[in-house]
Amino acid sequence: MLYIGIDLGTSAVKLLLMDENGKICNTVSKEYPLYFPHPGWSEQDPRDWYKQTMEGMKELTADCDKFRIAGISFGGQMHGLVVLDENDEVIRPAILWNDGRTGKETEYLNDVIGKEKLSAYTANIAFAGFTAPKLLWMRENEPENFEKIRKIMLPKDYLAYKLSGVFCTDYSDASGMLLLDVEHKCWSKEMMEICGVAQTQLPKLYESYEVVGNMKADVAEAFGFGKEVKVIAGAGDNAAAAVGTGTVGDGMCNISLGTSGTIFISSKSFGVDANNALHSFAHADGNYHLMGCMLSAASCNKWWMDTILQTKEYAAEQERIVNLGQNQVFYLPYLMGERSPHNDPKARATFIGMTMDTTREEMTQAVLEGVAFGLRDSLEVARSLGIQIERTKICGGGAKSSLWKKIIANVMNLKVDVIESEEGPGYGGAILAAVGCGEYTSVEEAAEKLVKIVETVEPEKELVDKYEERYQKFRKIYPAVKGLFRELAE
Ligand code: XUL
Repeated sequence: MLYIGIDLGTSAVKLLLMDENGKICNTVSKEYPLYFPHPGWSEQDPRDWYKQTMEGMKELTADCDKFRIAGISFGGQMHGLVVLDENDEVIRPAILWNDGRTGKETEYLNDVIGKEKLSAYTANIAFAGFTAPKLLWMRENEPENFEKIRKIMLPKDYLAYKLSGVFCTDYSDASGMLLLDVEHKCWSKEMMEICGVAQTQLPKLYESYEVVGNMKADVAEAFGFGKEVKVIAGAGDNAAAAVGTGTVGDGMCNISLGTSGTIFISSKSFGVDANNALHSFAHADGNYHLMGCMLSAASCNKWWMDTILQTKEYAAEQERIVNLGQNQVFYLPYLMGERSPHNDPKARATFIGMTMDTTREEMTQAVLEGVAFGLRDSLEVARSLGIQIERTKICGGGAKSSLWKKIIANVMNLKVDVIESEEGPGYGGAILAAVGCGEYTSVEEAAEKLVKIVETVEPEKELVDKYEERYQKFRKIYPAVKGLFRELAE
């Protein structure tokens, strides 16, 4: 049998075809535009996602036996607000996970409703980028659009709806809406009331590995697939990536270096960080996880290479970096504000420490290091909760760089296990599809059988010590400039 995993990302949709033994038979990537209509805003057109997914699916399955395709599932960019009207038309562009327009609404939720109440209702507090503050923003700023809303969904759920006709979501992705009671896995009545929405506007909840329905007959026919291609709920991209890297069960860690950067810690039991600096979400294996999320990770390097240095030679730029641990330049990676742990949409990226002899290589190195330091900030929160982590998996576009993996291993003092394929969310989506179709009895069993570690990057004592010193300096920079970011934003 064959399974399709769809990674609905921010820069592109990446589709992956996997056989029942976990072998990746084909991958296809299709880009779509990302719009920044105001500084700090971030939007996409859901119709672009669907169009490119359909194009990609055609290419992905062009040379396979189409009747062997048994199931399809997803790992999708989280938190995005997709709203449909009574005719199932998209009302406005989706407001994405890295959109910072909801500063006022986030402050209202955290300060007026109160963090304690939010945490009791949902296990989380409000962050700009979560879905609930976006609904409040729409109610205030686009009341005529807000009135039209009949269906509220997350990005990957739009694809599932178009493919199957079923209005559904899964617990891992729903956790990031600030509308779900994560511990009890149901919609929070209090949060629905606060946001002015009814349960009929929200999708039906499923575990990530559950079948929601079959692919619509006309869609299946258009691709030449059989009649019973199952659509499986899927997961938020981080939970799907965790499945794809075998980060399931208890106490496992995964770092994703994509447009965002995340550190994901799986857990068999529900738990909340007392300060809510880490998100407490459901996992795609049926359990839970804690997660820290940086809004700009590999995107910092992409911005630095593409926009500033104007080069596509990422590897050549990195080859010239030789002095690891010895850079005088620091970089704050807050191009889109920052989520974990600062929760500050007004934060901005900054270089600091340059002198007349600062080189291009040092600036590039500072960008890679700044992202690693940002991830370390979230790791420190986890450590402060008594969570002991010695090793992590890694995935995402940034994980292709050996240098970046080495920097991560030494800045975080973690053994970094590299997986055969770094296609985290797409592979995870395909695994969820295989579980949903009964190929494996559980997500844990599938991950254990299918995910293979091919290399481990070990931290080196001397470098760890050097980076410890630098990290202690790095962590002083944001508090020193935080007030200034507020002034600059006015
Ligand atoms: C997680 C988050 C990002 C997006 C990226 O909370 O906002 O990792 O899911 O697609």
